[in-house]
Amino acid sequence: MYKIAVLPGDGTGPEVVREGLKVLDAVCEKQGIKYEKVDYDLGGERYKKTKEILPQSVLDELRTVDSIFLGAIGHPDVKPGILEKGLLLKLRFSLEQYINLRPVKLYPGVWTPIKDKKPEDIDFVVIRENNEGLYVGEGEFIDKDTPNEVAIQVSRNSRAGVDRCLKYAFEYTQRRNRDKTLTLVGKTNVLTYAFDLWERAFHEMGKDYPDVKRDYAHVDATCMWMIKNPEWFDVLVTDNMFGDIITDLAAMIQGGMGIAAGGNINPEGVSMFEPIGGSAPKYTNQNVINPLAAICAGGMMLDTLGETEAANMIEKAVMDVTANKLKSLSAGKMGYSTTEVGDLVVKALK
Ligand code: IPM
Ligand code: MN
Repeated sequence: MYKIAVLPGDGTGPEVVREGLKVLDAVCEKQGIKYEKVDYDLGGERYKKTKEILPQSVLDELRTVDSIFLGAIGHPDVKPGILEKGLLLKLRFSLEQYINLRPVKLYPGVWTPIKDKKPEDIDFVVIRENNEGLYVGEGEFIDKDTPNEVAIQVSRNSRAGVDRCLKYAFEYTQRRNRDKTLTLVGKTNVLTYAFDLWERAFHEMGKDYPDVKRDYAHVDATCMWMIKNPEWFDVLVTDNMFGDIITDLAAMIQGGMGIAAGGNINPEGVSMFEPIGGSAPKYTNQNVINPLAAICAGGMMLDTLGETEAANMIEKAVMDVTANKLKSLSAGKMGYSTTEVGDLVVKALK
């Protein structure tokens, strides 16, 4: 019996989470998997009412669950940064979810802005370090609000933090068993401290994985190749900030935010799965938002829990729906409502 914490969050989060759970319920029923849900009303509304973002008691409870299913964080009435840092990043850091896992796969029938690329060309995974780098929030202002002002933002890269991320990446590449190529994405020509460490750690650890080919690409060139030759990539590993940027680019080539799911993973602890599209406030309660990203996030959750068959079942059903039903992945243009898309996926489960 798994215990799943559900954090629907803000905006369209609750609507897509509802469909994600609908599909989870159906697949677990078919596979004989049992789970109980615990709901948490964290997010912008609760913050507006109580000024609470993430009470310590809730954080303590979240440490005891098997997994967390998250909708979206971000509220139009709350200053940007408060919920993102106080809730999303706080969870990632406190629960040591040091991996941000982002599969990038063009499903059949899905439109990609890259001309002539097909599902077999766009199928790679980005592994983003999720606890360090520029996201640690270290820095200072010097002479703030004067013409001489200087703002410093530190990128912290610990050897231990980089090593644990690389270990996951090498093992993931082995397990994925495709081209068995792991590409380190960095900027060794300019960031000569941070990526010097990453590069040394990468090649040292790589010796323990002789079957995994090691490749390196600068982050700017990676953006170029991702558009020109996405078929070159198998698994990419990079730091927090670069990973944030290239995964939005990657999401667009797989058909957009309607389908992009991510996992915040602590391989030894509690992981959290989310559609990466955000709360999309203007579509709230219209039953038009695409729930496939949340449904895929549910699939990733099952996969990480070790329920591979159930996870594959979800992915196949989603592929069936993109190939045969949806007109588009964009909100309001799918040809179906949010709830209908959830129903279609349930019906396609085999
Ligand atoms: C993401 C998001 C977050 C990030 C924001 C909302 C803090 O963009 O999950 O990629 O920057 O990590
Ligand atoms: Mn992002």
